Amino acid sequence: MKKKILTGLLIFVLLFGFIQFFRPEKNWQINVSRNEIFYKKAADPRIVTLLKTSCYDCHSNNTAYPWYNNIAPVSWMISNHIREGKDELNFSNWDLYVPETQHKLLKKIIEEVEEDKMPLGSYLIIHADAKLSDADKELLKFWATDKMVEIENSTK
Ligand code: HEC
Repeated sequence: MKKKILTGLLIFVLLFGFIQFFRPEKNWQINVSRNEIFYKKAADPRIVTLLKTSCYDCHSNNTAYPWYNNIAPVSWMISNHIREGKDELNFSNWDLYVPETQHKLLKKIIEEVEEDKMPLGSYLIIHADAKLSDADKELLKFWATDKMVEIENSTK
């Protein structure tokens, strides 16, 4: 019995050690992206801070990694969230989207925030500062609506 437990433990330790060799590439870009949403056009600093604090870890080319990102399989989960998040919306590549896409994304941002779907729940457990207050949500909705109107007027 004792031997079985020890063997099991040994296998676990070996496996855990082995998977540590598989490190996902980091989502990190040294230069500021020229296509970033705020690169050419300044916005209310509260909005900049809000998006950077609550959304940029998964929706930009720069993630502020927590220490436990060095541990597999947590690192794999984080990497997946970033890949899927960036696929849908990447603020670092904002200017590369055509206006119609930008408009759609802004609408989705409003929806996701209204329905409390973003930031992801699993992320908020650890990043309490990323949680949006009612005032944050209003500010974000106001900014997104304003930007949508701007796009509508420029594509008329
Ligand atoms: C921990 C990572 C993470 C954070 C932080 C995060 N998101 Fe996401 N986001 C995702 C992932 C993963 C997806 C794609 C899968 C999904 O829709 O759940 C996504 C999808 C989206 C989509 C597209 C939804 C759709 O149905 O097309 C929008 C819009 C979005 N996020 C907005 C935001 C905004 C705004 C914030 C900040 C307030 C934010 N996200 C914070 C991970 C994140």
